[in-house]
Amino acid sequence: MSSQEAKLIFDGRTYRLPVIKGVRGERAIDIRTLRDDTGLITMDPGLANTGICRSSVTFVDGEKGILQYRGYPIETLAEHSTFVETAYLLLHGDLPTRDELSLFSRQLNESSLIHEDMRLFFRAFPNHAHPMGILSTMVASLSTFYPLPDVLDDVAEEQFIANLISQVRTIAAFSYKRAIGEPMVYPSCNLRYIENFLNMMFSSPVKDYKLDADIVRAVELILILHADHEQNCSAATVRMAGSSLSNIYSVISAGISALWGARHGGANMEVITMLEHIRASGGDGRDFVERAKKKGSNERLMGFGHRVYKSYDPRAKILKDACHKLLQKPGVSDPLFDIAVRLEDIAMHDDYFLERNLYPNLDFYSGLILKAIGIPYDMFTVLFAIGRVPGWLAQWREMVHGDNFKIARPRQIYCGADIRSYIPIAERK
Ligand code: CMC
Repeated sequence: MSSQEAKLIFDGRTYRLPVIKGVRGERAIDIRTLRDDTGLITMDPGLANTGICRSSVTFVDGEKGILQYRGYPIETLAEHSTFVETAYLLLHGDLPTRDELSLFSRQLNESSLIHEDMRLFFRAFPNHAHPMGILSTMVASLSTFYPLPDVLDDVAEEQFIANLISQVRTIAAFSYKRAIGEPMVYPSCNLRYIENFLNMMFSSPVKDYKLDADIVRAVELILILHADHEQNCSAATVRMAGSSLSNIYSVISAGISALWGARHGGANMEVITMLEHIRASGGDGRDFVERAKKKGSNERLMGFGHRVYKSYDPRAKILKDACHKLLQKPGVSDPLFDIAVRLEDIAMHDDYFLERNLYPNLDFYSGLILKAIGIPYDMFTVLFAIGRVPGWLAQWREMVHGDNFKIARPRQIYCGADIRSYIPIAERK
């Protein structure tokens, strides 16, 4: 029980509201009885000041630029961990032992095939279908091929978790093969998670894909850094959709849809489009910066700014270094990297960005790495989704197994018409 409380004085009465404290000192006013006690609700568009849960999955300190999964700094995981190990950590709370990791890896490997009939679906999408649209549709359709038992026990839960983490990667690679008109390449039990993905993407019946350790590590890094980010738009969507006890495959599909938007995961693709424009125009991007600063303009400097980070996004820092290193490899250089660095420098010397604490975010450098690997632009957000699935599942799992599990149902302040009489159509003017 909290020893602190907040006081609300309304209509001459004082209400005492308990203050909840997190283990890192963050505090929240508990308003669970507010409406019953006072008739009031709170108003917080964008939920910028609203806590929707207590969580022990991920910690972010946006002021200090700190990100930790289950207590482990992102920098440490980026240096030492693998994506599969990080996924296990997010889902189970602790790093796995050797046996636990090999069991988890085996389960992922054995769950990587999608039902053969699902391959027919890919043929029905139009040629210009966006891979994120295909991904969300196909993930939702997994619910029809892998129906869940009425009572979910631990074994069933581990299986659909493995299906989602593993099959999302197969679906992504199949949608790419469909887009380029090549035969789909099946997953192989002889390859590890990332190798398998790259092989499904880039090998063909006439040409083997030669795995390169630096490329594998770069994808590993991208997926680790994207694996969770506490209550962001897509994670909150997953909690919201999951709170109705909807089928987990549809819940993850909802998360994918929320991620797609340009203000969220879709920004990684927009960044490269922006950098390409700058290169084509021969400028240094100052015009983009100026347009993004204009009051009332809908344009933004893509890959800049964050709801939570008011300092440099720690993920962007890691990716900038990794990108620089990767582009040193023979044959991988990219002039867009220099344009990006110059653009960052312009923004970081501009009062508009400094006053608003707008720093490069995760999406600013990730697209350059994906581009260097050969991932097509419209699949960038798909890679984000593959990385984020373990985080969404960890958030969902924490919610459904936690205390205070309730369907999410916000309130509103109604501002529409007053009650009106129905006028038959013949009498309407
Ligand atoms: N370029 C120019 N101005 C910006 C930008 C930007 N990228 N981001 C925020 N601002 C301005 C905004 O216009 C506003 O100015 P003012 O106070 O004068 O009205 C102020 O900064 C605060 O912006 P906000 O929209 O209230 O901030 P938010 O917390 O609601 O939005 C954001 C966060 C990430 C949606 C936003 O910064 C943005 O649109 N960034 C560009 C898109 C992007 O890179 N998204 C990726 C986010 S990180 C990874 C992920 O979640 O996928």
